[in-house]
Amino acid sequence: MTVVIMAIVAATGGLLFGFDTGVVSGAIPFLQKDFGITDSGIELITTAGLVGAIMGALFGGKVTDRMGRKKILLVSGVIFAVGALWSGLASCPASLIAARLFLGLAIGTSSFAVPLYIAEISPTRIRGMLVSIFQLMITIGILIAYFSDYAFADESNVASWRPMFYVGVLPALILFFGMLFMPESPRWLFSQGRDNEAIKVLHHTEGDEAEKVALSLKVDIERSAQCFTRWSDLFKATWKMPIVIAIGLMFIQQFVGINTVMYYCPTIFQMAGFSGAEAAIGASIGVAAINVVATLISVYFVDRIGRRRLFFIGMAGMILSLTLLAGSFLFDMGQAGKYVTVGFTLLYVTFFAMSVGPLGWLIISEIFPQKLRGLGSSLGSVTVWVCNSIVTFTFFKIAHLLSIPGTELVIGGETVCNPAGSFLFYALVAVLGAVWGYFYMPETKGVSLEDIEEHWKRGGSPRKLKAIKKD
Ligand code: BGC
Repeated sequence: MTVVIMAIVAATGGLLFGFDTGVVSGAIPFLQKDFGITDSGIELITTAGLVGAIMGALFGGKVTDRMGRKKILLVSGVIFAVGALWSGLASCPASLIAARLFLGLAIGTSSFAVPLYIAEISPTRIRGMLVSIFQLMITIGILIAYFSDYAFADESNVASWRPMFYVGVLPALILFFGMLFMPESPRWLFSQGRDNEAIKVLHHTEGDEAEKVALSLKVDIERSAQCFTRWSDLFKATWKMPIVIAIGLMFIQQFVGINTVMYYCPTIFQMAGFSGAEAAIGASIGVAAINVVATLISVYFVDRIGRRRLFFIGMAGMILSLTLLAGSFLFDMGQAGKYVTVGFTLLYVTFFAMSVGPLGWLIISEIFPQKLRGLGSSLGSVTVWVCNSIVTFTFFKIAHLLSIPGTELVIGGETVCNPAGSFLFYALVAVLGAVWGYFYMPETKGVSLEDIEEHWKRGGSPRKLKAIKKD
């Protein structure tokens, strides 16, 4: 039970990740009026958050390996709190851009440091479930952001966007004060030669098994005790596989297009035929809610049926639902059409949330060796933030490029491009992702982090990982 509480406290970092990336969309219309800024000003505010996240993910890895997992989460808590306050208080666009850049640092850092901390405190048999709580919290954070946007949106008050941002202060304080009472990762403590402290923590996380686990951890971690923490150490041939897996999986997580739905949902539903902004926002809350519910499926099954099976179920489901979603925009289904679009969107989000959403963060926290786990998982995280930026900025461009003449849509009297081409493109990525997964998706269920490290050292392939215990 204690370890579950530890996982939940650390996963508040996931809630902040979800909240702070989700809250901006609802604040935008008010920001535009309040500051009188153009679309490119808005783009700068959104981009600042993503650039901050890339920087946080890039530089945080090294610090996490050197200073430990707990400290970096405490620092993130402070940045999240100050960043949220600063965003809400910003007196001009430049100040808001700086605040979002600053907040982004915590989003990027916590995005890999939280799963990594949870993976390292977890007993092997429930590690998948506990790390997936991180993704569950991301989805809850997105839902809270939509609610907060909805609750504070007041057409008669241009400053409505400020309280939307303030809401983020509370979970940031929970993360900071909660983490003050949480222990450091026992694996990291062993790797620093702080054995007594590590054993103490293991008594909390492993219960009766503590002594046994301590013994095997100590031997394994000492065996890998050469001190790496430089990027050049990570790019050695031994770690080729985890690198290919981290980059590949996170590329797929983003290029199946999930954030086009997360960020542009109201617009997509207006394209489908919903007229009022409110109906479209209501439907978006439905999407965010199904995202939470479907993530629970993964939390439950990930240690039962394993990572690979969930991955393939998700890929197959996304290929189908994205194709159907594209179809719903191409074929006229009359009045029912817009509901069909909502249905396929929900189906698509469901398959994402039960597979590559949580699996991405889980796998990058598991596959790197002890001394490089911070750096390695930060590489996965950088991939996410870079790909996220590319996908969200190219959504309408791809739709335009792949549009079939005669299928344009009309929203509020304005003719816009049909988004079907983009969804078909993401479906194609999912097909290629499934092929990639056949060769590279590892089955880490029930395999200890130390055995995973040993497997790469022996030159093992990802598909053979499952068998390691039986060797
Ligand atoms: C992804 C985010 C996405 C979220 C949606 C996460 O796993 O990394 O980019 O917004 O899932 O739930």
